[in-house]
Amino acid sequence: MHSSILLLSAYCGLSAAAGPHPWMYGVPDYPDLDMNEVMTQADVNDMVAAAEDITTASATAQSTNSTSPSTTAGQEPCAIVSSVIAALPSGARPIVPAELGVRCLQSVPLDTNGNLRLIDDMKLFVKWQSNIAFLKNPPTGYTERPMDIVGELDAMKNQLSSGEFRTEYDFQMKMMDLFNSAYDNHFAWQPDILASAIQFQRPPGSELVSVSTDGVAVPEIYIYRDVIKANNDTSFKPSAVSMIDGLSAKDFLTNASIQGDFHDADTRWNAMFPSQALIASGTTFLGAFRSGMYTGQPNTTMQFVNGSTYSMPNLAVAFGNFTGVDSGRTFFRKFCTGPPPIVQAPAQPATPLDNSASAPPAPSHVGYPKAELINPNLAVGGYYINVQSFQNTMRDFIRKSKADGKTKMIFDLRGNGGGNAILGYDTFKQVYPQAEQEPFGGTRFRANDALNQAGKITQDFLAGKTFAQSNQTAFQEAFGQGTTEDDIFGFTSSFNYQHTLDANNAVFPSWEAMFGPETFNNDTFTPTLRYNYSDGISTTYTGFSVIGFNDNKNETATPQPFKAQDMVMLHDGMCSSTCAIVSELLKNQGAVRTIAIGGRPQPGPMQGVGGTKGAQVFSWDDIQIRMQAVYFLGSPAQRKAWNDTDLGRTAFATQLFTRSAYQGGRIAGGVNLKDNLRQGDASKTPLEFVYEAADCRMFFTAGMVSDVTLVWKGVADRMFLEGGMGKCVEGSTGDGTSVSGGGQFRGGDGKINEQAGLKGNGSAAGDGPSQQFVGGASSVGVKSWGWMAVVAGLVMGMLW
Ligand SMILES: *[C@@H]1O[C@H](CO)[C@@H](O)[C@H](O)[C@H]1NC(C)=O
Ligand SMILES: *[C@@H]1O[C@H](CO)[C@@H](O)[C@H](O)[C@H]1NC(C)=O
Ligand SMILES: *[C@@H]1O[C@H](CO)[C@@H](O)[C@H](O)[C@H]1NC(C)=O
Ligand SMILES: *[C@@H]1O[C@H](CO)[C@@H](O)[C@H](O)[C@H]1NC(C)=O
Ligand SMILES: *[C@@H]1O[C@H](CO)[C@@H](O)[C@H](O)[C@H]1NC(C)=O
Ligand SMILES: *[C@@H]1O[C@H](CO)[C@@H](O)[C@H](O)[C@H]1NC(C)=O
Ligand SMILES: *[C@@H]1O[C@H](CO)[C@@H](O)[C@H](O)[C@H]1NC(C)=O
Ligand SMILES: *[C@@H]1O[C@H](CO)[C@@H](O)[C@H](O)[C@H]1NC(C)=O
Ligand SMILES: *[C@@H]1O[C@H](CO)[C@@H](O)[C@H](O)[C@H]1NC(C)=O
Ligand SMILES: *[C@@H]1O[C@H](CO)[C@@H](O)[C@H](O)[C@H]1NC(C)=O
Ligand SMILES: *[C@@H]1O[C@H](CO)[C@@H](O)[C@H](O)[C@H]1NC(C)=O
Ligand SMILES: *[C@@H]1O[C@H](CO)[C@@H](O)[C@H](O)[C@H]1NC(C)=O
Repeated sequence: MHSSILLLSAYCGLSAAAGPHPWMYGVPDYPDLDMNEVMTQADVNDMVAAAEDITTASATAQSTNSTSPSTTAGQEPCAIVSSVIAALPSGARPIVPAELGVRCLQSVPLDTNGNLRLIDDMKLFVKWQSNIAFLKNPPTGYTERPMDIVGELDAMKNQLSSGEFRTEYDFQMKMMDLFNSAYDNHFAWQPDILASAIQFQRPPGSELVSVSTDGVAVPEIYIYRDVIKANNDTSFKPSAVSMIDGLSAKDFLTNASIQGDFHDADTRWNAMFPSQALIASGTTFLGAFRSGMYTGQPNTTMQFVNGSTYSMPNLAVAFGNFTGVDSGRTFFRKFCTGPPPIVQAPAQPATPLDNSASAPPAPSHVGYPKAELINPNLAVGGYYINVQSFQNTMRDFIRKSKADGKTKMIFDLRGNGGGNAILGYDTFKQVYPQAEQEPFGGTRFRANDALNQAGKITQDFLAGKTFAQSNQTAFQEAFGQGTTEDDIFGFTSSFNYQHTLDANNAVFPSWEAMFGPETFNNDTFTPTLRYNYSDGISTTYTGFSVIGFNDNKNETATPQPFKAQDMVMLHDGMCSSTCAIVSELLKNQGAVRTIAIGGRPQPGPMQGVGGTKGAQVFSWDDIQIRMQAVYFLGSPAQRKAWNDTDLGRTAFATQLFTRSAYQGGRIAGGVNLKDNLRQGDASKTPLEFVYEAADCRMFFTAGMVSDVTLVWKGVADRMFLEGGMGKCVEGSTGDGTSVSGGGQFRGGDGKINEQAGLKGNGSAAGDGPSQQFVGGASSVGVKSWGWMAVVAGLVMGMLW
């Protein structure tokens, strides 16, 4: 018999090795994580001794009248960090005890005035965050607490003014919390103190897993490396972790996972542990337990069911350049003044902290020469984008699978942080090539003032009516030699009404029509916007043809390769952005079912998509660069007037760029620019507020941790075999929001829209027990997709 089940592990351009999303999963970029790293007692002793030697030496050399707020013994903790690092042999890992690292951060003085200006800037950029009204007043079904971002920012201003923050560290922790509580991984900010110089980790070897005896029984917590070891050596019987730092393992992890930035508690639970899919794709994400925030304990201490105990020190990895850092003040000067300059720019005023400080370097994305502004490399720099090879590989894979007689398809979307949005729509079309299956792809902006101004100026630009277009000298002065109107066209494409379609696939007659606005939940939004998939400018991928359109229009004649009931999505909740886009289309238009794996150790359903369901991300600089592009089209008089509006203020904001961390050369923060909307949802609820249970849930077994084919076999057994759903976790099937529970096209108001689009048919189970899983089938998919995940490594929703 032919092997009949096809396994496909699809990363929609997951960033992987090519440069991850700079703020993926709410943790800073961890440059040197190594799964195989070991820390011995001797290493611990050396680390502790190094810090103590320097502490003792400096204690005797220094008087004890330091004025730094957090030093107790009179030594500057940052000076100790700096000396320890300097004394290390070259190539050694720059680690110090976590306690010392946090004392260094706590010694950084509070920048009250700077932080007031920072919040003012943030409030400008937060106006672009599409869902602030829904966060403040979430619909029923949203599982998280309401979150009034603007109100919280105002409250923090008051707290700053009234002296409620003691240190910069306290301020940043609070701000970080605020961003995390929005549970939207497009809405993120990495503050400089917390992410520019030091990162905290639990000791190597402390990675955990949550595994069940049979995939159905409630799981227990084990040391990850114990499970790997036991899988290889059957004589080794690992013991479960019962307590962590004084709490039951379950309570500890439940509490710690609150800090994750996923909107689903089961997903946050999964994010505590190493992700098989991410490790396979080359991303060193060992779980938020190992590499999350520091919570104050010197050691990580665990007790096992067998009675033995594990205790090892937590670490601070001092990856910043600490040369010359001898206090909290010098730390600030070195790490909290923006990125090093990449172009000549007017000097920024010194921060008010220390008047003797030399002017800090100007941030790269602030006030940079106008020519640089228009350099497209700034928008795509550092990222390897190859949407074509992603499409080709996927198409070849499907063709080969059909030729090989495969009849079933598993989309393994675990650990998928997204990528280029166009690939989400394209991936749907790969399995629904027929012309009538047009991806809905409805999105919208929050209707803010700066957006409206940008749209109006873009409209004038399209009509050739802007000042800069009328005066070539002024144009070159504004944008620099060599910049053309085509460049401006590219930067303004998001606001281009001529290349955006309405909900009924008709062109908007004007910017005013595209802007609207419409009111929902006491906030205003543009109407539903759709892509014209035959128009490269609309999709922002000129030259790329989505399957079924343009150069790939011929594909509409290709028969649908798999029936809906023969496909299934495998999710671990860690699916965001483009991954959420393709999941929405496959589920709601395609009637493809979902199985979720993992989650909290309790029965019941689990959501498949726990990451942002937003359709597009803009980082702070993506917004500013576009505001500058339209601003400089104006006449001197217009610019003067615009300076008093959100447009001008956003174009010239500096403090946000001075006080953010940078990763991979890009500012680590941004907003969810566009909501993703469901076809036919009259309530137009942004999808992250719509609860959607998977059709089935299973837990990891120990074997699955080191053998991915066992994961896929577990999926196939449950989703493709007659009666297989009996092996789903208790209470995890038949939820009214899942495909098999009739939840297709359920809107945010809970109503099912019968008219919406073409409906697939999810009610059918598999074709019966003849579909046996055949292990050999997997290797084709695994290999080709393993390779593809690397070459297609790309980032960001859509740039242009
Ligand atoms: C201690 O304080 C005195 C008086 O404020 C100051 O002159 C001296 O430089 C301080 N010593 C050190 C090591 O900071
Ligand atoms: C598995 O066990 C064998 C024999 O004990 C050992 O040589 C090998 O290194 C182990 N492999 C892994 C991945 O631990
Ligand atoms: C108890 O279990 C832990 C975790 O598996 C293991 O490291 C330790 O060696 C065990 N202790 C004893 C005495 O078996
Ligand atoms: C729960 O987590 C927070 C951080 O999110 C921490 O401050 C608090 O101490 C934790 N509570 C317990 C009981 O561990
Ligand atoms: C932390 O762990 C180290 C290494 O195991 C140990 O020597 C030390 O006693 C522990 N400290 C505490 C406070 O538990
Ligand atoms: C660290 O900074 C110092 C001075 O600020 C500089 O001389 C040195 O080259 C830097 N080191 C590295 C590794 O960049
Ligand atoms: C064109 O722009 C230049 C540079 O801003 C300015 O000097 C000149 O007066 C402008 N010409 C007209 C006709 O506005
Ligand atoms: C609705 O928004 C307006 C303006 O932003 C605000 O004044 C009003 O309090 C809001 N009403 C509710 C019910 O939130
Ligand atoms: C979509 O774009 C194509 C190619 O530019 C164009 O021919 C077509 O008219 C557009 N569709 C609509 C509805 O405007
Ligand atoms: C459709 O055309 C594209 C581009 O020419 C080609 O790559 C693809 O193989 C064709 N598809 C079919 C089904 O013929
Ligand atoms: C607008 O504001 C910026 C930043 O404050 C300033 O550099 C520029 O000169 C102002 N432009 C006008 C026309 O006032
Ligand atoms: C859905 O599939 C079931 C089982 O194959 C079938 O009985 C039913 O008629 C189908 N419904 C539609 C709308 O195609």
